[in-house]
Amino acid sequence: MVNLKFPYAQRMAGLSGSAIRELFAFSAKPGVISFAGGNPGAFALPDAQVAHIASALLRDNGKAILQYGQTEGYPPLRQSLPGYIQDTFAAQVQEDHVLVTTGSMQGLDLLLKTLVNPGDAVLTESPAFLGALQAMSSYQANIVPVNSDDEGIDINHLEEMMRKWRPKLLYIIPTFQNPTGRTLSLNRREQVARLAARYKVVVAEDDPYRSLRYRGQHVATIKSFDEEGWVVLLGSFSKVVSPGLRVGFMAGDAQLMRRCAVCKQCTDVHTANLNQAIVDAYLRDGLLSPHIDRICSQYATLMDTMLSQLKEMPKKRHYTQPEGGLFIFVELEDDVRATDLFRKAVERGVAFVPGEYFYPEGGHHNTLRLNFSNADRPAILRGMEILADSLQQM
Ligand SMILES: Cc1ncc(COP(=O)(O)O)c(C=O)c1O
Repeated sequence: MVNLKFPYAQRMAGLSGSAIRELFAFSAKPGVISFAGGNPGAFALPDAQVAHIASALLRDNGKAILQYGQTEGYPPLRQSLPGYIQDTFAAQVQEDHVLVTTGSMQGLDLLLKTLVNPGDAVLTESPAFLGALQAMSSYQANIVPVNSDDEGIDINHLEEMMRKWRPKLLYIIPTFQNPTGRTLSLNRREQVARLAARYKVVVAEDDPYRSLRYRGQHVATIKSFDEEGWVVLLGSFSKVVSPGLRVGFMAGDAQLMRRCAVCKQCTDVHTANLNQAIVDAYLRDGLLSPHIDRICSQYATLMDTMLSQLKEMPKKRHYTQPEGGLFIFVELEDDVRATDLFRKAVERGVAFVPGEYFYPEGGHHNTLRLNFSNADRPAILRGMEILADSLQQM
């Protein structure tokens, strides 16, 4: 094979991702116990129900669904979303504040495309979702990490960074954060909204795990404290219905949403009508809540299984104890490198993601992210036993 030298754009320079792609390719191999991805468990994917809904939709409205649709969203879903957003996120939005997106990742991409020039500062809590960091890199943003602790983003550091960098955007995952599983406290949420208004920073509030709460009380969204319109809520049906349908939404200031819609038009014209109509059926026919209840009770068992195994894990210093979501974050003793543990674990058929990939500033070699949604209870017990044994040997 000839190794052609393609004239790549400068924006590709900051995008590596090869190590992590290899890691995910390995974890998808048959027989591997994967604590690596953020995939819903197979039991959580409602294939039979979706088949039934899709066939009814095509029978009753097939010609319209198979035609081109509107960039802003399939009209029935757009009408359903304000009520869903009110019920689930306690945020009041009107139809023209909502844009349906191809997964919530697209919501972030559109915000970056709309707001960020190369070199502009974008603040992110650190550690943060790798896909979001990659999206920021692809727009050549100056990614500025903000410290976080067990209550979420550090407000004093956030204000210092806003004052210093005058960023255009803050990216934050307030609930059952990826990768840590932490939830931002109520008080800090209010302060994030207040700082955003004071420093005129758009906040991308990425909240795809909110409904996956297994215990404790819901905490009000940052958006619910937003009086002026600086906060854009990014929502997703990936974790509660199906990631393969690629349906999400963004909800924010109407004028900003119109600009994002212009960008979406030249990206993918619109999100697939059939997929939007399927999600709309979940909302309209009251199918979403019982489905979420069902999957949450199973996820809770898996999370508790992993947490109880972590109690016995050698060489750990700290691990998060989430009340929901899909991830637990582990900090090992200072001299243990998670990539060394990864190499050992992989030889024995267990995968996870070393935590260092989630820190834009680097470092944190002694951390790892564990996902518990994609293995059954016996596999979690076995996988955790292998991790403990591998650590013991190090
Ligand atoms: C914090 C966060 N945001 C967004 C996404 C992607 O969501 P979607 O499938 O809706 O694009 C993920 C997926 O892992 C995530 O963890």
